[in-house]
Amino acid sequence: MRLGTYLGCLTATSLRNHQTQLRTAQTGYSPPPGLAAVQPGFAAIRCNGEIGCWANSRSADKASIVKELADLARKCSIMASVSLEPGVSKVGLLTGKTAIVTGASAPQGIGRAIALRLAQEGASVVVGDIDSTLESNEARRARRELLDELVSEIQARNGRALAVKLDVTLQEEVDACIEKTVLEFGRLDVLVNNAGTLAGSDNFLSTTPDQWESSFRVNILGPMMLSKAAIPEMRKIGGGRIINIGSTGSLGAEPGFGAYTAMKHGLVGLSKTLAAEFGADGILCNTVCPGYISTDMHNAANARLAEENHVSLEEIKAQRYANVALRDAGLPVDVANAVAYLAGPQSNYVTGINLPVTGGVPAGI
Ligand SMILES: NC(=O)c1ccc[n+]([C@@H]2O[C@H](COP(=O)([O-])OP(=O)(O)OC[C@H]3O[C@@H](n4cnc5c(N)ncnc54)[C@H](O)[C@@H]3O)[C@@H](O)[C@H]2O)c1
Repeated sequence: MRLGTYLGCLTATSLRNHQTQLRTAQTGYSPPPGLAAVQPGFAAIRCNGEIGCWANSRSADKASIVKELADLARKCSIMASVSLEPGVSKVGLLTGKTAIVTGASAPQGIGRAIALRLAQEGASVVVGDIDSTLESNEARRARRELLDELVSEIQARNGRALAVKLDVTLQEEVDACIEKTVLEFGRLDVLVNNAGTLAGSDNFLSTTPDQWESSFRVNILGPMMLSKAAIPEMRKIGGGRIINIGSTGSLGAEPGFGAYTAMKHGLVGLSKTLAAEFGADGILCNTVCPGYISTDMHNAANARLAEENHVSLEEIKAQRYANVALRDAGLPVDVANAVAYLAGPQSNYVTGINLPVTGGVPAGI
């Protein structure tokens, strides 16, 4: 095996000084100063529009070279994506980063897919759930077991993960989650506010103030409290990403989803506020707006609409998906891919946006 023949790609984080260095390097062939200082003989070259580099490594095996590249990137505070073979990413875009994902226990849920996707990119992932509105203790225990299974699955793929009990409406659990994250992984880079509820989604005149309040607590207050607790930790490391999971209900309305629609619109307001207020700290905040995604929540909404309209589930699906350009529901991983983009270096200059992941569904009124 020849040394120095492995091509890796290095891309910048939100740390501006490194961005500048890397961008400068992109126009020429000299190594970015940070890299040169850390490891003599490490040369940066331009490759497919990204920064490429040849690892002038003393190691003779692939695994050691991958590790050296990752360590090097970490020392320079840059994110590394190292590909030794086509299609095989040994070190991901989020290597060295830590992410929190709320509402991650549902087996078919978007949160679980996000946690797996971020872990696949190399992030250490803290997964939280436990809905205190679930009535039985068994149901709560089941949520915890699902979280533990998710952690085991990530660890089995050589990832790092931690499960925490996190009801996003409880300040003490929010604070404990941030504390445990930093204690376990040393930093917090990415917060994904995914937990959500359809409480108060009904014919408007049948909904109650209590339902609206409970929708507010999960869909807006939770993300607000988590963001407030996360931002000081992100500031300590020079930046971070907050990604709120909105909905097409953030962009428009369809009948029968009053509280949900109001709160998801409000969530966009929260995202934009954070984007405006903390951009100068290198903290980017965006909203991902899923359309119809095949999860327990979506299936429950379909079942309710079928019952209310006295039609079969298949008919309701046909009616709803007829409005989708791609004529089908999406998968949780489709949303997770959008989150991975907004968590990673490819979105370094993107903040305050709503990113629809809808298969082309009109947002409604
Ligand atoms: N599935 C869709 O079609 C769809 C469409 C648009 C937006 N969304 C949004 O995507 C996100 C995930 O939805 P999903 O479809 O995976 O739903 P889901 O019901 O499968 O999962 C939601 C998760 O949030 C958790 N949760 C609820 N209240 C909580 C609380 N107080 N604290 C902590 N966790 C809590 C639940 O336990 C559950 O694990 C939600 O914000 C939802 O509004 C989903």
